[in-house]
Amino acid sequence: ASLANLDVPAQATNRVQDRSTPAAIIGDRPFNNVADTDPAIGENRTWGRAILARSGGSQLGVETVTAGAVSTTEQMKSILESTTAAGRRWGAMPAAERAAILHRAGDALENSRARLIEVMANEAGKTIAEGDVEVSEAIDFAHYYAERSLDLEKIEDATFVPSGLIVVTPPWNFPVAIPAGSVLSALASGSGVIIKPAKLSQRSAAVMIEALWEAGVPRDVLTFVDLKDRELGRVMIADPAVDRVILTGAWETAAMFRSWRNDLPILAETSGKNAIIVTPSADLDLAVADVTKSAFGHAGQKCSAASLVILVGSVGKSERFERQLIDSVRTLRVGLPQDPLTTMGPIVEPAQGKLLGALTTLAPGESWLVKPRQLDDEGKQWTPGVRTGVVPGSEFHMTEYFGPVLGIMRAKNLTEAIEMQNAVDYGLTAGIHSLDPTEVARWLDEVQAGNAYVNRGITGAIVRRQPFGGWKRSAVGCHAKAGGPNYLMTLGQWKAVEQPA
Ligand code: ALA
Repeated sequence: ASLANLDVPAQATNRVQDRSTPAAIIGDRPFNNVADTDPAIGENRTWGRAILARSGGSQLGVETVTAGAVSTTEQMKSILESTTAAGRRWGAMPAAERAAILHRAGDALENSRARLIEVMANEAGKTIAEGDVEVSEAIDFAHYYAERSLDLEKIEDATFVPSGLIVVTPPWNFPVAIPAGSVLSALASGSGVIIKPAKLSQRSAAVMIEALWEAGVPRDVLTFVDLKDRELGRVMIADPAVDRVILTGAWETAAMFRSWRNDLPILAETSGKNAIIVTPSADLDLAVADVTKSAFGHAGQKCSAASLVILVGSVGKSERFERQLIDSVRTLRVGLPQDPLTTMGPIVEPAQGKLLGALTTLAPGESWLVKPRQLDDEGKQWTPGVRTGVVPGSEFHMTEYFGPVLGIMRAKNLTEAIEMQNAVDYGLTAGIHSLDPTEVARWLDEVQAGNAYVNRGITGAIVRRQPFGGWKRSAVGCHAKAGGPNYLMTLGQWKAVEQPA
């Protein structure tokens, strides 16, 4: 309780970073990813605990959420009009001026690190470490897209023309990084933006947006809306004033948006059903650690999470991998993020429907290696589950569950493993653990996924280094990569001019 009375600085101390060698050059300018808060430093642990101690009933962002409430079609139309007009003025500004504001937005997000972590713990059940990397990602997006926007002017033979008005509809599970990345890319491309955050985590988005406004992004260029009902969502999406929609969410939501307006220009990052292959040449200790982290980080509530592990040949025949996985999964400590010892937070929406089924029932051929248990009445806290014997083509093989449940499959050889990995409708993230360069090269050639990771976890893509976005049903409209070089280019129109002298 005494920690709750501490004055919590906006950032942790000693967030040292060596900038003498830039990570990358964009155009002719250096680019560095920001450092996460280092929990090895004692002061930073105290800082983190103080944030958690005062979280739990936070009222952060309430004013903004109330101010953005939209309850009539007329209000919606007027917002569409005013943001379009403000967006035109923003688009007419020199790109360098806009970029300077976006760099300041990155600094403002850094100054909001503690508040952002606090509100994410409340709304999205994120631990300190999970919230911290998310703030870093949002900051990276600000600086990265600011730099990339300057390059748009340098492309020869065609001129980039901003879209005009971009609507952003992010998901609840990355309540800061994904809204920030979408909004900052749209702003960097010179358009006005309307953001409608997910209901479950709109305060996190509100705190993030407030930082952008404070940094100098004009309020009328970036409009925050909280829609009373779905019909207002339809009015917004179907309005021809909307030049583009950036959606992150379910594939079905993208399909619904298209049913509202069939010519809708949409850039959507949608669902995933992601597997990690483990071959007999793998470092099994590393594989077990990476599978555990990828499957159960944020209780599996990531489109990028590992939902399947495919054991090749002898790995599946001996018991070693499974035994080690049981031990590793049992070390996870399930609880609320306010408890600093928690390593796996809650399921944010009580487990229901498909996920509840996956936590409670087995299909023919399957058995529990680690049986999930419900710890609370509400159905939010579940211990992680691992089922083995998942049959190719079965429901568990093909379905995204978005929760703390992992399935194990067995393949005779790498060919069969890759077939299983590619058999799903989605193609977002994929992993292989193998120390055989021939196997790895072949896998990299054949895997159908936007983000292919070798001998590491498959979540937590880093801006610029791992541009993020999938294939097949993991994307709709366009396969641009968030945090990568082609993203901004898709957010406008291109004009090629030929004029005889
Ligand atoms: N970009 C997020 C990740 O890579 C979804 O985990």
